[in-house]
Amino acid sequence: MPRGTFITLEGLDGSGKTTQIKRLTAWLTRRGHQPVVLRQPGGTAIGDRIREILLDSRSRGVAPMTEMALMFADRAQAIAEVIQPALDAGRIVVCDRFTDSTEAYQGGGRELGSEIVLDLHRLICGGLQPDLTLLLLPGLETSLARARRRNHRVEAETGASEGRFEREQDTFFRRVWEKYRDIAVREPERVVLIEGDLTIDEMHEQIVEAVAERLMLTAKTA
Ligand code: TYD
Repeated sequence: MPRGTFITLEGLDGSGKTTQIKRLTAWLTRRGHQPVVLRQPGGTAIGDRIREILLDSRSRGVAPMTEMALMFADRAQAIAEVIQPALDAGRIVVCDRFTDSTEAYQGGGRELGSEIVLDLHRLICGGLQPDLTLLLLPGLETSLARARRRNHRVEAETGASEGRFEREQDTFFRRVWEKYRDIAVREPERVVLIEGDLTIDEMHEQIVEAVAERLMLTAKTA
């Protein structure tokens, strides 16, 4: 049985990943595939509990190392319970965020650096790499504006003064954005960069084009 195909979607908060994953899933299903779809953090019963802690504590000062460790704990469970068995059964797995998110958010945003994230990935995830990563990355200013809108909720919860909080958020998301770009430059074979201020339809077109190409390659090498 040939190994399945592992596809991940990445991008900043508010990048439109959720909509694109729904459309990609429908597209794959119309072509006779039965994709396994999951998100991180979450995607398993244990992962959903980890997700609750993570999203709940976003505003309560979780230490960067704790945050990273929880992300990997969640991922290890998802790999063992869902991703690896599905790939072994020859299925297509579509995952909303994977280790690139940890590298961008904890490595870049929280400034832990790439090295520790990649080391942990090797140790905890056995180096499992997606066959294809679709990185939705509109220009920096658009990305910042969207991420800001998504995060106004946190601002209300923390009661942080608006200006200060917004500046901190911008600096954080700028580092996330830059780290995502670094990853795309470092791994052009795996990471397809979907840039620019595209409409939902335009983005979908680019996504399915990249997926179709990758599925053909996988079929040829199987
Ligand atoms: P979620 O509400 O799922 O956001 P989105 O729809 O944008 O994916 O929240 C996930 C948040 O967790 C998001 O802000 C990114 C963050 N995250 C990390 O910081 N590190 C990680 O390794 C992962 C997987 C997510």
